Amino acid sequence: FLRRMKVPVVIKDIKQEFVDKGMGYVEQEINRQAEKGRIDKDSVPWLLNLVEPTLDYADMADCDFVIEAVLEEMPIKKKVYGELEEHVSETCILATNTSSLSVTEMASDLKHPERVVGFHFFNPVAAMPLLEIVKAEKTSDPALITAFDTGRKLGKRCVLCKDAPAFIVNRLLLRSMVETLKLVDEGNDFKEVDDALWAMGGPMPPFVLMALVGPAIALHTNETLADAFPDRYVVSENFKELVARKKSGVYGPDGQVDPEVREFWKQADPPK
Ligand code: 3HC
Repeated sequence: FLRRMKVPVVIKDIKQEFVDKGMGYVEQEINRQAEKGRIDKDSVPWLLNLVEPTLDYADMADCDFVIEAVLEEMPIKKKVYGELEEHVSETCILATNTSSLSVTEMASDLKHPERVVGFHFFNPVAAMPLLEIVKAEKTSDPALITAFDTGRKLGKRCVLCKDAPAFIVNRLLLRSMVETLKLVDEGNDFKEVDDALWAMGGPMPPFVLMALVGPAIALHTNETLADAFPDRYVVSENFKELVARKKSGVYGPDGQVDPEVREFWKQADPPK
């Protein structure tokens, strides 16, 4: 939003340390872009000054477009939207970056559900051109058109999606992820599976991608899809354990399989 649209941005979170972390990332990214000559160095202080970090919804009162990216739990999403609606104008668009949840349900308790639209980015957000725009049951045409126009101004390629579980990309990605996990559960080595699938032409190995996305988000999306299509999106018990142990991936910082992961991951014996 800063780089492409140069508009004032409010970043809200629930703890100062989270807001500080977000601000640190924005600062680093803007400075990096300036060093690469993509934005004018003299404009850096001005651009950074456009961002207002806050812990208070009241600071969002004059926002025209809000993107929620809170935990992937429907009750939390609904609570945040409800609180937000008390502060913003009736025409403020409420966009959601949910990976898999129903946008229709998220909007269902609001006074103005017609302003809610899915706005789903991909990791790493600054680099990936795709943006899924989700039309929920009550999304109005002005909300949808504003979302498309905003996405276009952000330099993204916008794709209209039905409000179906995990939309388009994650529905495909998770089908592949489920099979990838199954290959390891059946007795193959993480590296062997990663190398074999990477050799087929993807931009990065599947378990590296899982770490980029974050195992917790990937598991959540897997579970949403398993609820909708139980036979096609079986959730690996090992994968659940990985998330329960708050692991950031199957590899450690040295790029080798994390010994703890190797220890708890139950594989078929003998291998299939
Ligand atoms: N964070 C931020 N930016 C990153 C990054 C990271 N982890 N990794 C790379 N980038 C940026 C680089 O800085 C560079 O930006 P620049 O052009 O402005 O300098 C740009 O991405 C390209 O990076 P590289 O030159 O290093 O190019 P690579 O060829 O190595 O590509 C990649 C890196 C773009 C990350 C590529 O490996 C890729 O496309 N990987 C697959 C990513 C993917 O599939 N994402 C979707 C996941 S699904 C999802 O997010 C949905 C969610 O709901 C689960």
